[in-house]
Amino acid sequence: MGYVKLVFLMLFSLLCQLAFCSSLSHLCLKDQALALLQFKHEFATDDYSTLLSWNRSIDCCSWDGVHCDKMTGQVTELNLAECGLQGKFHSNSSLFKLSNLKRLDLSGNYFSGSLISPKFDELSSLTHLDLSSSSFTGLIPAEISRLSKLHVLSIKSYYPYEPRFEPHNFELLLKNLTQLRELHLISVNISSTIPLKFSSYLTTLQLLNTQLYGILPESVFHLSNLESLDLSDNPQLTVRFPTTKWNSSASLMELDLSIVNVTGGIPESFGHLTSLRTLDIASCNLSGSIPKPLWNLTNIEKLFLGDNHLEGPISDFFRFGKLNWLSLRNNNFNGQLEFLSFNRIWTQLEFLDFSSNFLTGPIPSNVSGMQNLQSLFLSSNHLNGTIPSSIFSLPLLEQLGLSDNHFSGNIPEFKAKTLHRVSLKQNQLQGPIPKSLLNQQRLGFLLLSQNNLSGQIASTICNLTTLAVLDLGSNNLEGTIPLCLGEMSRLWVLDLSNNSLSGTINTTFSIGNQLVVIKFDGNKLEGKVPQSLINSKYLAVLDLGNNQLNDTFPIWLRALPNLKILRLRSNKFFGPIKDSLTYKFARIRIIDLSSNGFSGDLPVSLFENFEAMKINGEKSGTREYVADMHELYYTNSLVVTTKGLELELPGVLTTNIIINLSNNRFEGHIPGIIGDLIGLRTLNLSHNRLEGHIPAALHQLSVLESLDLSSNKISGEIPQQLASLTSLEVLNLSHNHLVGCIPKGKQFDTFENSSYQGNDGLRGLPLSKDCGGDEGVPKATTPVGVDEGEEGDSAIISWQAVLMGYGCGLVIGLSIIYIMLSTQYPAWFSRMDVKLEHIITTRMKRHKKRH
Ligand SMILES: *[C@@H]1O[C@H](CO)[C@@H](O)[C@H](O)[C@H]1NC(C)=O
Ligand SMILES: *[C@@H]1O[C@H](CO)[C@@H](O)[C@H](O)[C@H]1NC(C)=O
Ligand SMILES: *[C@@H]1O[C@H](CO)[C@@H](O)[C@H](O)[C@H]1NC(C)=O
Ligand SMILES: *[C@@H]1O[C@H](CO)[C@@H](O)[C@H](O)[C@H]1NC(C)=O
Ligand SMILES: *[C@@H]1O[C@H](CO)[C@@H](O)[C@H](O)[C@H]1NC(C)=O
Ligand SMILES: *[C@@H]1O[C@H](CO)[C@@H](O)[C@H](O)[C@H]1NC(C)=O
Ligand SMILES: *[C@@H]1O[C@H](CO)[C@@H](O)[C@H](O)[C@H]1NC(C)=O
Ligand SMILES: *[C@@H]1O[C@H](CO)[C@@H](O)[C@H](O)[C@H]1NC(C)=O
Ligand SMILES: *[C@@H]1O[C@H](CO)[C@@H](O)[C@H](O)[C@H]1NC(C)=O
Ligand SMILES: *[C@@H]1O[C@H](CO)[C@@H](O)[C@H](O)[C@H]1NC(C)=O
Ligand SMILES: *[C@@H]1O[C@H](CO)[C@@H](O)[C@H](O)[C@H]1NC(C)=O
Ligand SMILES: *[C@@H]1O[C@H](CO)[C@@H](O)[C@H](O)[C@H]1NC(C)=O
Repeated sequence: MGYVKLVFLMLFSLLCQLAFCSSLSHLCLKDQALALLQFKHEFATDDYSTLLSWNRSIDCCSWDGVHCDKMTGQVTELNLAECGLQGKFHSNSSLFKLSNLKRLDLSGNYFSGSLISPKFDELSSLTHLDLSSSSFTGLIPAEISRLSKLHVLSIKSYYPYEPRFEPHNFELLLKNLTQLRELHLISVNISSTIPLKFSSYLTTLQLLNTQLYGILPESVFHLSNLESLDLSDNPQLTVRFPTTKWNSSASLMELDLSIVNVTGGIPESFGHLTSLRTLDIASCNLSGSIPKPLWNLTNIEKLFLGDNHLEGPISDFFRFGKLNWLSLRNNNFNGQLEFLSFNRIWTQLEFLDFSSNFLTGPIPSNVSGMQNLQSLFLSSNHLNGTIPSSIFSLPLLEQLGLSDNHFSGNIPEFKAKTLHRVSLKQNQLQGPIPKSLLNQQRLGFLLLSQNNLSGQIASTICNLTTLAVLDLGSNNLEGTIPLCLGEMSRLWVLDLSNNSLSGTINTTFSIGNQLVVIKFDGNKLEGKVPQSLINSKYLAVLDLGNNQLNDTFPIWLRALPNLKILRLRSNKFFGPIKDSLTYKFARIRIIDLSSNGFSGDLPVSLFENFEAMKINGEKSGTREYVADMHELYYTNSLVVTTKGLELELPGVLTTNIIINLSNNRFEGHIPGIIGDLIGLRTLNLSHNRLEGHIPAALHQLSVLESLDLSSNKISGEIPQQLASLTSLEVLNLSHNHLVGCIPKGKQFDTFENSSYQGNDGLRGLPLSKDCGGDEGVPKATTPVGVDEGEEGDSAIISWQAVLMGYGCGLVIGLSIIYIMLSTQYPAWFSRMDVKLEHIITTRMKRHKKRH
């Protein structure tokens, strides 16, 4: 053997000297180097890019990310993952000249919505291709199926469903790639069934959130090399597990079928999956007690059974001796919370999520034995008692969610220094904010709202320099707002609403602050709106309502380009709102100035500049929330007052467009220009001194749900055109000087007397005064064009439709990113966390590098 080898080596070096490798130290072929350099110049890079090392005077085979074949000098591997490439990836890219490429990794770059070029098929030697998280979009060309040597193909999208397959192309792909070992497609719109035939070499099949439908062929479970199967987040995909022993049972280590239509339950055959380490069957409509075959999975380490209807005592889970991640969130588990059973405690547990169950009792003190615990979520149960101080001594604890329980007593002092997210909101905790909390050097999220916490907010809180969310709302905190809060450079959310804070707001919001949400509403704050708010360039929500602020309208807020919600209601604001051509407020969606002392004419130019209200967002079909940062566990809830009802909206949809100027001393006419704000849902101008006519232009408000012009001095007739407002559910025109016939038809047939009372001149249904014979639609003498109003009441919206949207729509079939951003304590958060970790850290790394 050795002899043969030696001879071969000698022969090889001889050949080298004679021909190919005249200089082994300089492998690089000119055309290859040229192609690489051309490729480099097709994109912008940043100062950290590995491509900076690509330098003509160095052998291209030793450039970062480049590997050549030692014999031929051809470039065979190109690893450009996270290289900071930016720009369009054109189909004529010189990359395609590197025809000997075997491995190509372009993941984690920014090709700004480029199409995947059909020319990839020219790289016919490719065995590994990674196009993930690089902002590719559009159709995935059928030509990819020609890469028949592929072992690994990976296309994970950042944005849901942007890259997509044409019908049948996915089938073609699987049919033709007979060598495939790993297929990773995430948030790609496949929108197809899973074909019957695929490579028998498959070890990893990951088709997460890909719009698959139909029935999963049973043969998938019989792939005898299969190690990892992830079909999660495909609610239309029906899965029935084989009832006989699976051929993959010896190899399968990871099985993820959450949010998939699992039918037929968990059969006995599951008991053979003894290699299984990770099992995720969250949201699979499982009910009853834990399926028996699961108890055979003695090697299980990570188990996710959340969002089912499972029940029983949690102590059973101690049987899984190797468990380190366990999520039972959102099920029907009940009984006492226990961390000790079968004479052992979960010392190795790192992640535990029991939130949204029916657990009772206190947190057992032996929680202190869980020395490896990093995340503990017990939110939304019926737990009570005091929070044991030992929880705050767990040496590795990073995330703690105890919100929405019945915990009482003081918050214990914190000893661990690892905490990153803490939510204790919605309990009955009392006493001061513990001082030791302020020593947490890594704390990013602190949510203590809806408790009975008292005392002052110490200015040492500003020592928490990593804090992004500070939610102390709805407690009994008193004293003044610490001046330094405006200087916390990473703070995004500052919610101090509904406490007893007093004094003037002297806080100086420093230049470059990151604040998106400021809520000081429901306190006893006095004085003026601090001018330094002008430095909060990202501010989307400013709620100063229900205080005693005494100021004129802070016109200068118009310089805040992102302001979407402005609430100044129930204060002592006064004076006219000057008409000025320079209003911007282009993004305002909710403006509530009600119950103040504003006077003068309604400012026409203000309405003119509400650009965001001129769009009917319903058409876009997507649900977006204003300033909700659910990934930060913060919901921007908003209390909306309606007739006799105060409703708290759990999140504010960008389509909630509201103008409330009621209960002031506004006078003059209602400007017809309001008719241009076609996105308006609620218009409340009641209880002012408005006069003139109701502008007929209001009939353009096709999504208007509530119109309240009551208690003004509005005269003339009700424009007949308003009958076309088919979304209108609440109308209040009472206590004005309206005359003539009430319009008939559609919504107008549903309003009752109360909508019109106190207008002596009104006739027609539902009022008893007849409107004259069978004329039907009354004469069109209604004034059109100009507009006015008088006094008013309050407006109502049917929020049901809005609220309904929260329950269902969100979860099913939406992308993981979208779930991340739009649901609170999002279902499968933990799992998503892990899966998105790569994408997000990639993004953050790049982000960090750039700054
Ligand atoms: C290429 O490398 C040489 C030697 O290391 C260096 O002097 C030169 O500045 C580099 N050129 C570029 C464009 O980076
Ligand atoms: C590639 O195509 C783009 C437009 O599609 C063009 O702007 C560019 O000049 C072309 N580059 C080369 C090298 O042909
Ligand atoms: C399938 O792969 C073969 C090469 O193995 C290729 O010739 C053929 O064109 C491919 N078919 C499609 C539809 O891509
Ligand atoms: C996915 O693609 C199909 C057509 O292939 C299309 O009908 C569907 O709307 C797309 N789904 C999404 C969520 O984009
Ligand atoms: C789930 O599977 C059942 C059959 O077991 C089927 O009746 C039902 O329509 C499927 N649901 C979806 C959303 O595909
Ligand atoms: C399981 O594997 C055996 C042996 O390789 C094979 O004969 C059998 O057909 C496979 N079963 C299925 C359902 O694929
Ligand atoms: C599961 O465990 C039970 C009892 O421990 C045993 O009787 C059964 O055979 C096991 N099932 C499988 C498929 O191994
Ligand atoms: C969930 O399972 C129950 C029976 O346990 C069944 O009645 C129901 O239709 C299932 N729901 C869905 C959405 O499949
Ligand atoms: C906790 O709740 C249980 C009922 O679930 C009750 O019996 C017990 O007294 C409560 N303990 C405290 C401290 O409130
Ligand atoms: C807060 O920071 C200041 C200055 O960095 C320091 O002097 C002070 O001791 C810190 N306070 C607490 C409670 O950590
Ligand atoms: C705010 O500043 C004014 C004037 O400097 C001062 O009188 C007042 O006490 C300060 N209020 C707070 C809360 O610090
Ligand atoms: C507002 O403040 C001014 C002085 O700045 C005072 O004259 C006026 O009475 C205050 N208004 C109210 C309603 O408190």
